[in-house]
Amino acid sequence: MSELAGTRVLLGVTGGIAAYKAALLARLLVGAGASVDPVLSRGAEHFIGAATFEGLTGRKVRGEVWEDVASGTHVELGRSAEVAIVYPATAHVLAKLANGLADDLLTTTLLASRCPLVLAPAMHTEMWEHAATRANVATLRKRGASILGPDDGPLMGGDTGPGRLVDPEDVLAHLVELLPGTRDLAGRTVVVTAGGTREPIDPVRFLGNRSSGKMGFAVAAAAARRGADVHLVAGPASLPTPPGVTRYDVGTTLEMHRVVLDLAARADVVVKAAAVADFRPAAVSTSKLKKAAGVPVVELEPNPDILLDLVERRGGAATPMMVGFAAETDDVEAEGRAKLERKGADLLVVNDVSGSDAGFEVDTNRVVILARDGARVDVPLASKAEVAGRILDEVVARL
Ligand code: PMT
Repeated sequence: MSELAGTRVLLGVTGGIAAYKAALLARLLVGAGASVDPVLSRGAEHFIGAATFEGLTGRKVRGEVWEDVASGTHVELGRSAEVAIVYPATAHVLAKLANGLADDLLTTTLLASRCPLVLAPAMHTEMWEHAATRANVATLRKRGASILGPDDGPLMGGDTGPGRLVDPEDVLAHLVELLPGTRDLAGRTVVVTAGGTREPIDPVRFLGNRSSGKMGFAVAAAAARRGADVHLVAGPASLPTPPGVTRYDVGTTLEMHRVVLDLAARADVVVKAAAVADFRPAAVSTSKLKKAAGVPVVELEPNPDILLDLVERRGGAATPMMVGFAAETDDVEAEGRAKLERKGADLLVVNDVSGSDAGFEVDTNRVVILARDGARVDVPLASKAEVAGRILDEVVARL
């Protein structure tokens, strides 16, 4: 099962006896290919341990807003989540969310997120039926949250009635239904390049660039989630391979060229998010260049242009669809249009990398997608996962 392949799910767990079921949900989500970030409230930790979730999800469990302050954990988690689920959701967390209170990591993260929110309440019948809870649930529903359950059944302490947490299988089914366009790339083969290439000067030095691979990995993850058979050709990047994606690690432009041209022969779409070195040292020293020998002169020679070669190789055919990227600092759109023509791509994703919140290394991007058919789509600042989704929407519309 990989219905949720690559989907980033934020799993909030709050303090109720039913918190143990969240471990089962985490296992189901991971089994469906999702990448799960568990966030436990302090109450949840009285019922179930963080170690259980770390073991099940392979991800670090974040519990406190005071950890990793510099990296803004709540903003990072909130922005990167594609869907958030609170399972179980206590009466207390429903009240906090309805009122916009943010006094712990889970509530700050949810306030910082813009993804669909799913809440699965669990509590005693009296609490569920209380006017305050009713009002809070109505507010949350009005804001677009999905409320799953609660079921009617056995509760803590031998009671029975409405308030029982829905089963994890029901949550999984709901998430699969909720996430839009999940399978619109089913049956398609997508090749994605990501990261920067490294051109060796000597055994320890290279010419490289700042590409982290985040943008390309996000495209690969999103394409896999939408059902594509995804082949990711990655320059050196310390990122986990997205679920359901086949990865090929390469170093130099020549290596990337060889692997991509080979894979492209069976691809429907090639997305070239990699920052490829245009030049490489003409001669690579087999021993480390010595400082004492003075400042070296490194002569460069041109690398092949992978995108140009791909376009040339497909001749007049429409397949594979070619999606290029461009990182520009000045006259972004005009430069992008010119590059689209020059490279013969079908779509060109132009990043404005003049600011610090878009382009290289960061988790967000701001792009304009230019199409050969004249269309243009503005994608304002958003997570790279969201940008990836918008790019694939344009791809799917033209397949
Ligand atoms: O990896 P991140 O840190 O997340 O950063 C993402 C990114 C900024 C690297 C990415 O979004 C991006 O813009 N990638 C393209 C960078 C670029 O400037 O490309 P370019 O203008 O040099 O090349 C244009 C296109 O031709 C690209 O699709 C590139 O992959 C391709 N190209 C370039 C040179 C070459 N020799 N062969 C190529 O195929």
